[in-house]
Amino acid sequence: MARVDVHSAKGSFRTPIVLASGPAGFGCDLARALDFRRIGALTTKTITHEPREGNPQPRIVDAPCGALNSIGLENPGVARFRSEVMPKIRALPTARIVSIAGRSADEVGKVAGALEGEPGVDWLELNLSCPNVRGETVADRPDAVSEYVRAVRAASSRPLLAKLSAGGGLVALADAALRAGADGLTLVNAVRGLRIDVETGKALLARATGGLCGPAILPIALAAVYEARRAFPEAFLVGTGGVVTARDAVEMLCAGANLVGVGFGVMADPAAVFGLAEGLERWLDARGVADVAEVVGAAHRGGWRVP
Ligand code: SIN
Repeated sequence: MARVDVHSAKGSFRTPIVLASGPAGFGCDLARALDFRRIGALTTKTITHEPREGNPQPRIVDAPCGALNSIGLENPGVARFRSEVMPKIRALPTARIVSIAGRSADEVGKVAGALEGEPGVDWLELNLSCPNVRGETVADRPDAVSEYVRAVRAASSRPLLAKLSAGGGLVALADAALRAGADGLTLVNAVRGLRIDVETGKALLARATGGLCGPAILPIALAAVYEARRAFPEAFLVGTGGVVTARDAVEMLCAGANLVGVGFGVMADPAAVFGLAEGLERWLDARGVADVAEVVGAAHRGGWRVP
């Protein structure tokens, strides 16, 4: 069997398939039916300092080849996360990436600081790019990215991923995050989108726009990962966006991702997501590839089967 374990300077993962922040919640419902040893990590829903109710309903609608969501970072706040959620997810047999966000650098620093002594927090993912919270998307300004990452870095010794959105200026934003102390990047967040009810002429989501996820954004995520890998050959990259099948995951790895995040797929068919690592192994075995590392970044080297 091909090796699918992934190793970085900051930690190891049993498989490259990780649950992206959002659809899996805190993993507790999935853990009743599915074996977390089959995934590399659970990324939690994003946690803020204070609890948040999120955006008004409706906040999820269908979209061609995906879905549009506007959850608005609903979460119990870091204190209840620690007392109620961490004891449950600490027991899961996989790595835990805790997603955090805030309205200021000071707030994200406080959230990271509150998690510093918490056993079972293997990585932090700083969500700088949620498209559904007014005035909080800092991922389009390198100075803000830098300020937020520095605040987390000062408060936390955990390995840190900075989650950015697709779009212009990605390399400058990624550079700001890495220089400020991020150990890697998660690319990409949901892409801003809109759907309208033609019978009423009104937006379908209560807050009008939302984040588009699902297969519709796979090529966008692939391009962002490819661009980041080209600019930062040594960076640790989590490629997220539109991956549903093992074949999609291979594409993401070839573009340069070390890990592959799956979000929409969890809403569509969680059992299939937990089978992706096996699908990846079969894909590698069928082609005589001994180690998944051989395909990472292959698109930058003229393909994985270079003569
Ligand atoms: C949300 O809570 O609105 C989604 C999270 C995200 O896209 O960052």
